[in-house]
Parts: sequence; C-alpha cells; structure tokens
Amino acid sequence: MADGMARFQDRVVIITGASAGIGAAAARRFSAEGAKLVLAARDEARLQAFAASLGGEALAVPCDVARDADCDRLLAEAERAFGGVDVLVNNAGLHLRGPVERRDATELAAMVDVNLRAPVYLTRCVLPMLRARGGGAVVQVASLAGCVPLPDAATYSATKFGLRAFSLALAEELEGSGIRIGVVSPGPVDTGFIMDELHEVSDATMSQPISTAEEVAEAVLDAAERGGELKLPRASGALTTVAYALPGLARLIRPALERKGRRVKARLTAERQRALGQRPE
Ligand SMILES: NC(=O)c1ccc[n+]([C@@H]2O[C@H](COP(=O)([O-])OP(=O)(O)OC[C@H]3O[C@@H](n4cnc5c(N)ncnc54)[C@H](OP(=O)(O)O)[C@@H]3O)[C@@H](O)[C@H]2O)c1
Repeated sequence: MADGMARFQDRVVIITGASAGIGAAAARRFSAEGAKLVLAARDEARLQAFAASLGGEALAVPCDVARDADCDRLLAEAERAFGGVDVLVNNAGLHLRGPVERRDATELAAMVDVNLRAPVYLTRCVLPMLRARGGGAVVQVASLAGCVPLPDAATYSATKFGLRAFSLALAEELEGSGIRIGVVSPGPVDTGFIMDELHEVSDATMSQPISTAEEVAEAVLDAAERGGELKLPRASGALTTVAYALPGLARLIRPALERKGRRVKARLTAERQRALGQRPE
C-alpha cells in the first residue's frame, strides 16, 4: 500500500468459485486489501474452512451458480450481512473436455449454465445494487479459449467467447455510470482445473506459459479498479489475437504448438508422479 490506504478498504466483494484456485487467490488478495468478502462455492465444508482461514471479514454462502435461486440468495446474503455490494467477481467455471460428440447434450448445456448463463444472471441482478452504492465493478474470469476457437473444447470456448462479448458490450452500455466491467482472460493456470486432468487438456493449451493463480488474482484486482480486458500472459494474449484474425496462419502453426504442448504435458505428468511417489508410465 504505497499511500497507506488499502485498495479495497471496507468494499464488499462477492466471489464465485472462491474456495480453490483463482477464486481463493483473489479472495486472499482482496482480504489483504481490506475488503469484506462474500464467498460462494458448492462444497460447504471446504468453503467454510477457507473463509475461516482468511482472518478478515468473510461470509461463506454455499451456492451452485447454475441455480438462479442460489444466486438470488447469494446477493441477498451480501445485502443482509454487509448492506450492499461493491464488486462482483464471476469466477466459477466448468470445463468438461473432449470432442462435442463424446459428451451428452446435458453436459454441454451444464457448461453453458455455469460459464455463461450464471454470470449474465448475476451481473444483471447486481447492477441495481452497484447503482445504489454510486458505482462499483463486475469482473468476469473468462479465458484465452474465449479469444480463439479451441478444438476439443468447443462449448467451453463458446461460453468464454460469449462471456467476453456480453461484458465488452455491457461496458459500453454502462459508460459514464460509475460501474466498471472488467474481463480477465488467462491462458493455462496452475490450479486443479487443468492440473488434475492434464491428460485431457488440449496440447495447444499447454504450449503456452502457465500462470499462477496469484498472478491471475492480481489481474482480477486491477480489472476491478480500472475495468477493461486483461489477457495473460500478455504474449499468449497477443498470439490469440493474431490467430483469431488469421485462421489460416493459426492452422499452420498449430502442429508446432501441439508438439511443444505434448512435451510440457509429459514433463508435468512425470513431475506429479514423482511427487506422488509413483513410477512414470
Ligand atoms: N485453471 C486454468 O487453466 C484456467 C484457464 C483459463 C480460465 N480459467 C477460468 O478460471 C475460473 C476459475 O478456475 P480455477 O482454475 O480457479 O478452478 P478450480 O481451481 O477448479 O476452482 C474452482 C472453484 O469454483 C467452485 N465451483 C465450481 N463449480 C461451481 C458452481 N457451479 N457454483 C459455485 N462454485 C463452483 C469450486 O468449488 P466447488 O467445487 O465446491 O463448487 C472451486 O471453488 C473458471 O471460470 C475457469 O474457466 C481457468
């Protein structure tokens, strides 16, 4: 704190998907910056234990963002406990990997519900609460898979494209309102989201530098303060911009990226097996 003031002193911050990975790292950073937290995830015991570990003011609200009634209760609990909301971070996500035809239609729809429908629903419902405070911020955790189409992740990629489009358009609608819309679009991040299913993660994804949850969390705080979109790492963000604009070039370079990604996956898998005391396959 360069000027002695915490960046989010007494601000009320809701974070979905807050008990692990990026959401938990963001909760720790907001807490260190003086925020009052309202934390959402489905597993109540894990969420309560995490909220208690933070030390500062943190309310755990067990919640499945795929259910509208849970989302309504989450906002109502924030209002009841802290008198309003200043920042909403839509971070909970679901990725059921593989080709479209390997998944049944219900699984694909579940990804749309968690990754797109829920953030749209929560964003719409929180806007009057932010206006009542004279302004505030919504930050969406999207993905670089929402910046360039990702084979074997078609529905996930579509939800993240949709979330970005919704948010960037809404940011324009809200210009001058005092409500900032931020989007954080990371490449691969060192959390259970990919590390627990490394064999399923696309080779192209793993060709990119892996961010830490703390790096992404810092981007979430920056986006809450300033709005706008942050892609990270920056070089991977630039690569997706070029690949989206020039799909022919993207197809040409994909085999090289996939070869690199396969080497990274083999190394990380061997490291994990060594850490677990298993013999590499
Ligand atoms: N890790 C990556 O490589 C990566 C890259 C780009 C974008 N992202 C995005 O970053 C976000 C967070 O990912 P992460 O890596 O931090 O994941 P993570 O480590 O697996 O943590 C996910 C968190 O979300 C909660 N959650 C999952 N489904 C939920 C639901 N339906 N309702 C409420 N909470 C739910 C989980 O707790 P419960 O299971 O108890 O509910 C957990 O707290 C996601 O939107 C993901 O798409 C991740």
